[in-house]
Amino acid sequence: MNRLLINGGKALHGKIRISGSKNAVLPILAATLLTTDEVTVYNIPHLHDVTTLVSLLGEMGARVTVDERMSITVDSSTLVTFKAPYELVKTMRASILVLGPLVAHFGQANVSLPGGCAIGSRPVDMHIRGLEQLGARINVENGYICATADRLKGACIVMDTTTVTGTENLMMAACLAEGTTTLENAAREPEVLDLAKCLIGMGADIKGAGTDTITIEGTERLSGTEYRVLPDRIEAGTFLVAAAITGGRIRLKGICPEMIDAVIAKLREAGADITCGQDWVELDMEGRRPMAVDIKTSPYPGFPTDMQAQFTALNAVAEGASTISEAVFENRFMHVPEMNRMGAVIRLEGNTAFIRGVRRLVGAPVMATDLRASASLVLAGLVADGETGVDRIYHIDRGYECIEEKLAQLGADIRRISP
Ligand code: UD1
Repeated sequence: MNRLLINGGKALHGKIRISGSKNAVLPILAATLLTTDEVTVYNIPHLHDVTTLVSLLGEMGARVTVDERMSITVDSSTLVTFKAPYELVKTMRASILVLGPLVAHFGQANVSLPGGCAIGSRPVDMHIRGLEQLGARINVENGYICATADRLKGACIVMDTTTVTGTENLMMAACLAEGTTTLENAAREPEVLDLAKCLIGMGADIKGAGTDTITIEGTERLSGTEYRVLPDRIEAGTFLVAAAITGGRIRLKGICPEMIDAVIAKLREAGADITCGQDWVELDMEGRRPMAVDIKTSPYPGFPTDMQAQFTALNAVAEGASTISEAVFENRFMHVPEMNRMGAVIRLEGNTAFIRGVRRLVGAPVMATDLRASASLVLAGLVADGETGVDRIYHIDRGYECIEEKLAQLGADIRRISP
C-alpha cells in the first residue's frame, strides 16, 4: 500500500494553482444523466472519487470520453442499466448523487445504500423522503434503494437538516419534474450553486441556488452543455493552513477568495497576513508561530467541517489553548489519537476537542482514516521533528490532486513510497 513520507520542519514558499472542486465535479457528472445529449465538463481534478463516478457511469452504459486537457464528455443516451452497485457506493458515498437524475430521467434507479462510514452514520433519509414527495415510489430492499416513477411532480420540500448532496439530488430531480418545486432549508454551499449553473446551462429553470430556498420550474427535456467547474475551496484552505502551520508564505492561483471567507477569517485570527485578489490569495506567516483559534463547524457560509481536521493540526502547534466543536458530523475526530501519538495534547469530549498547543510535534508512523483526517496528518507531519509516515493514503487520493507534488513544489520534504 502507498504511503507518504514527510520530513518536517520546512517552511512552505511559492505559488501553486488550485484544482477543480471535487464536491462540485461529482454532482455535475451525475447531472449528465439528466440528458441524452453530450455534456462536457472542464477543469476536472485528477482524483480517485472522479474515477469512481466515471466508472459508475461507464458501468451503467454511458459513453465517457476523457481528454488529456482534463475534460470529460459524457453521453448517457447509451445507458443500459440503472444500478449503482454496493462495491462502488461503499468506496464513495457521493455515488448516491445518481439516484435523483436516474429516477427523474429514466423512471428507475437501483442504488446501494451507502451505510455507515468513518465519520458517522450519515443517513440518506432526506434524499429518499424528498424524492417520494416528488412522486417516486421507493423501497429499500437488500441494502438497495429501489426507486421507480412516471414523470415526477413538483412539490414543496422542507428539509429537516441542511444536506449538501441531498439538496443536489433533489434539485437535479426537480429539473425534469412537472411543475414547480421549492426546496426549503436548502444547502447554500458554493458547489450547490455551481451545479445549478451547469443545470441552467442544460436548460433548467432554477432560482435561488446559493440561498436556503431554491425554486425549480421543471421542464420535459434538458440538453447538452459545456461547463467548467469551480476551484476547490477545501484544497485551497488546506494549502493555506500548510503555509500557516510551517511559518511560510504562499500564493494560491485560480481560487475564488470569497468562498473561503470563514477560513481566511480564522487564519487572520491565528496571526496570518492574508491578501486577496480576484482569483488569488496570498498568505504570509513568515517565521511566526500561529495563535490558537476556537472553531465551531457549521453549514456554509459557516466554518466548513471539511477544514476541521486541518485546523486541529494548526491548533496542536499553536500558541495557547483552543476548543474545536464539530457540529455537522458525529465521530469526525479520528485524526486526534494519531496526532496525540505525535506529541499533540488534545482531549476529546463528545464532539468537542480541547487542545493545548505544543511547540513541536514528533514524527511517527500514523494511519489515515478518512479524507480530511489524512490531510491533517500530512500537515502535522510538515511541522513535526523527524520523519512522519502516513499510511492508507488512498483516502488522500480520493480528494487531493497530486498533494505531494504540490507540497514539494512549495519546498516540503515529502515523497510517495510504493511497496
Ligand atoms: C457533503 C460533502 C462533504 C462535506 C459535507 C458537509 C460532497 C460530495 N460531500 O457531504 O465533503 O463534509 O457535505 O459539508 O459534497 N444528513 C441526514 N440525512 C440525510 C442527509 C444528511 O441526517 O438524508 C445529515 C448527515 O448525517 C450530517 C449532515 O446531515 O450530519 C450533513 O450531511 P450532508 O450535507 O448530507 O453531507 P454530504 O452531502 O454527504
